[in-house]
Amino acid sequence: MASKRNGSEGGPRRYCGTGGALHATFNMLALSWIIISELLLSAHCLKDLKIFVPEAVRTGNSATLSCQYDLEQAALYSVRWYFGQEEFYRYIPREAKPTFVFAVSGINVDLSKSDATSVTLKSVTRELSGIYQCEVSEDAPLFHTEIRSAHMQVIELPKDEPVMQVDKKEISVNDNLKAVCTVGPSYPPANITWLINGRKIYKTPLQRISHDTYEGSTTYSSLDLLPHSQALQVFFQALPKYQHNIVLQCDVSIMQLLYKSVHQPIRLSNAPPTTISPNLLGLEGSKRYANGDPDNSALTGASQRCCICCGALGAFSLALVTLAVAQL
Ligand SMILES: *[C@@H]1O[C@H](CO)[C@@H](O)[C@H](O)[C@H]1NC(C)=O
Repeated sequence: MASKRNGSEGGPRRYCGTGGALHATFNMLALSWIIISELLLSAHCLKDLKIFVPEAVRTGNSATLSCQYDLEQAALYSVRWYFGQEEFYRYIPREAKPTFVFAVSGINVDLSKSDATSVTLKSVTRELSGIYQCEVSEDAPLFHTEIRSAHMQVIELPKDEPVMQVDKKEISVNDNLKAVCTVGPSYPPANITWLINGRKIYKTPLQRISHDTYEGSTTYSSLDLLPHSQALQVFFQALPKYQHNIVLQCDVSIMQLLYKSVHQPIRLSNAPPTTISPNLLGLEGSKRYANGDPDNSALTGASQRCCICCGALGAFSLALVTLAVAQL
C-alpha cells in the first residue's frame, strides 16, 4: 500500500473531489477495468489521517483515542484500532451493527463512547501502555488504506509525598553535602532532579548524582556535593556579603501527571567551622520538618552533625545516605 501511495503524487490526484464526475466519465467511456483500477488506485481521496492518543493517563481512568480523516468524496469502509499488532475494535458503517469488539487482554471498550472516529477504553491498567494504531479504509473499489500510530503511557502515581533528607543543614567550604530524595512506588519510575536556588545541578566529578529504582518500589536519587563543587562554589565566593542561606530543591515528576518539589534551606558558614550565633539557627527549617529541631544551643558543625545522629530522623537519614553511598 505504501508504495502505491508514494506513487500517487502528481496528475491523478486531480480526480479527487470530483468523484461523481469521475464515475460518469468512466461509465461513458467504458474503459477497461484495468485502466480504471490504475487510475483509481493512484487517486488519493483519503487524506489527512491523524491519530490522537493521550500521552499519559492514570490507571483506572478511561482513555479516549481518536482518529480524524478526510475522505473527500470517498465512502468509509472501515476503521480499525490495534494495540500493538492486535485488533481490538472495528467500525464498519455499512453493517447493521457497525461496531465490533475483539477480545484483547486488558482492553475494555466502552461501546457507548465509541464510533467511527473514536474508541474509549474503560479503566485502563498499566499493561495497556504501548503503541496504538488506527487504520482507515475507503470503500470499494479502492479500499485505499492509511494507518497512523501513537504511544500511550498508563501511569500509577506514588501514594506518598516525596521526602528529602540532608546530612547537614549547615556547611562550610570544606564540607561535603549529601542529600537523598525519595518518592514512593510509581509506574513508570519518577524522574528526580536537583536544584540549588532554582538552578539545576548537573552531574560532574564534584557533583555526584545517582538514581535508583526497582520495579514496584521507592525511587530515590542521592546527591553528594564535594568541596568546591561548581554548584556551591559560586555561593561561597559571594560570602560573607550576600547569600548565607541557599535552598536545596528536589523536583519529582512523572510525565505531565505529577510535579512536586521539596525544599531544604542550607546555611553556608564561613570556614573554618566556628561557633554559630544561636539566634541564626532554627529560624528557617525545612518546610517539611519545620517542627524538627529548633535547637538553640550554640553548635559547631561537628556537634550539629552529632545532634542529627541522635534523633530518630537523623538515624533514618543516615541510613538512607549510607544506602545511597553504597550504591555509588
Ligand atoms: C523522564 O525524563 C525523560 C527525559 O526528559 C523523559 O523522556 C521521560 O518520559 C521522563 N519520565 C517520566 C516518568 O516522567
